[in-house]
Amino acid sequence: MIVTAFPESFLTELTERNDIVEVVSSYVRLSKKSGSNLFGLCPFHSEKTPSFSVSPDKQIYHCFGCGKEAVEFLARRVNMPVPEEANDRESKKRGRMLALNKDAARFFYEQLSAPGGAPARDYMKRRQIGRTTATNFGIGYAPDSWDALRSAMKAKGYSDFELFDAGLVRKGKNGGFYDTFRQRLMFPVIDVRGNVIGFSGRILGDGEPKYMNSPETLVFNKSRNLFALNLAKKSKSGYIILSEGNIDVVSLHQAGFDSAVASLGTSLTPEQARLISRYTGEVIIAYDNDGAGIKAAQRAIGILEKLELKVKVLRLNGAKDPDEYIKLKGAEAFRQLLEGSENQIDYRLRTVTDKYVLTEPDQKVAFLKEATELLARLPGAVERQVYAMRVAELAGVKGEAVADEVERRRKRMLSAARKSEARDQSRPERQLQPEEKSFRYDDPASAAAEEGLIRLLYLDPSLSGSAALPAPEDFSAPVLAHIYAVLLEKARRGDSLSTATLSGALSGQEMSLLVQLLQKPEQLNRGETALNDYIARIRERKELAGADTDLRALAKQFREKKGYEG
Ligand code: CTP
Ligand code: MN
Repeated sequence: MIVTAFPESFLTELTERNDIVEVVSSYVRLSKKSGSNLFGLCPFHSEKTPSFSVSPDKQIYHCFGCGKEAVEFLARRVNMPVPEEANDRESKKRGRMLALNKDAARFFYEQLSAPGGAPARDYMKRRQIGRTTATNFGIGYAPDSWDALRSAMKAKGYSDFELFDAGLVRKGKNGGFYDTFRQRLMFPVIDVRGNVIGFSGRILGDGEPKYMNSPETLVFNKSRNLFALNLAKKSKSGYIILSEGNIDVVSLHQAGFDSAVASLGTSLTPEQARLISRYTGEVIIAYDNDGAGIKAAQRAIGILEKLELKVKVLRLNGAKDPDEYIKLKGAEAFRQLLEGSENQIDYRLRTVTDKYVLTEPDQKVAFLKEATELLARLPGAVERQVYAMRVAELAGVKGEAVADEVERRRKRMLSAARKSEARDQSRPERQLQPEEKSFRYDDPASAAAEEGLIRLLYLDPSLSGSAALPAPEDFSAPVLAHIYAVLLEKARRGDSLSTATLSGALSGQEMSLLVQLLQKPEQLNRGETALNDYIARIRERKELAGADTDLRALAKQFREKKGYEG
């Protein structure tokens, strides 16, 4: 990236302290494409088709025209101050907002003990939330008033605009401001550094909306934070309990399960999973016991397993959520549940089992089909065997029959995978085509050589001195010709070649293609031979194409003549 506003030394340290794969995969879902190249949606601008490429082994990525945002973003990530005036201003603003949030939290907390806080105290009693727990979480009360918080904060020197930016007041129709949170039990959201970054306010009793949350602000990003992680990160339990509700978390901590967290009213995001993985290697999912909870758990399993976290799922039989479970059956019962919690294979198998009535013959067959398919995907042979026995028992059939079926399916699956891999490799022209449709190569055989030449030149710019090099006009693909011309010019001038220095001269899509083609394997030690091969192929294809064009031109002349005569 080209970012002239920042000193070089700062940028170097910044990139050294941020591992590219770690950074990117925590914000972008990367899918594997050709070779070792990964693709995803660019996190710095909005787009629908993935054009953001990352190379894990070369530690390079390409993003389009957003170097500045990237710098600020990375600096924040590793807590480095950004040396620039504009950012001084921004960081002052953040500091002010955090101070305001802390003061607001203190205000809400005090209201809980004030005479006006009686309705909140009653509600807490009803939900069995004790005083110590309330203090531990900093739970407070937003009183029944349009401007209690606003006047208290203005008295402390905060302006309406600061309150508005922090999401604590809203603008009325007449242009005035009024408190966002009124008559609500207030849960401050505190990040792992102890900053109050936002609030969740629950209505006292029934009513809509049940929760009101701070909007996204300079300091509050819901998808990157978890409720109560500030407390859970100190837990000695060795795992994190992931639940859905604030009340569940509060109730769990109160019952001694001090590693409970909740996502902030959204389903678990990859960023949140990444955050969790910094503190633990094991996650126990305790979502609500309803259709939505089961779906959300399945999604969460996928996200967490990508980060190689051990995942287990709780079955809250007879209760709608962890809070109710503890209220109905007690903390001890919950502890037993935790200890016996199903691993994700058990869980998936249970989900499949629950879909069928196993006493019905046709449903039993459908169950066996789906269950053996599931087991065939397990990498461990022992695991497959053990679970095959379980499935057999459930369906009331012979164990060996199920185990054999699982192995048969696995063989079929593996051979299908191998075949499709072989098919892909035997179709070089298909693999060769760039992602970007408008760049389609007319002559894939020549384009492969053109790409190779670009790759060699990029890896070894001294080749630009060679007299044997073809001219860009000799290339069959215009886009490759342009990239080649730019590289050649820079290399001949002695400029260093990097995706950063090139991004000014090439378009975003061209950069993306360049990064893509640089990923393909190239052996530098046979550079000389490869170079000659590539050059020869480009020349040869050009001559062929030339002959083609000549023939076509002749044919065209011939047709025109006939038309003229007839
Ligand atoms: N939530 C939200 N907005 C809503 C409803 C829920 O932001 N209108 C979020 C809250 O963070 C809430 C979580 O989703 O904690 C789970 O919702 P729910 O289970 O309804 O809330 P609980 O906190 O568990 O409250 P309760 O036990 O009183 O139902
Ligand atoms: Mn709940």
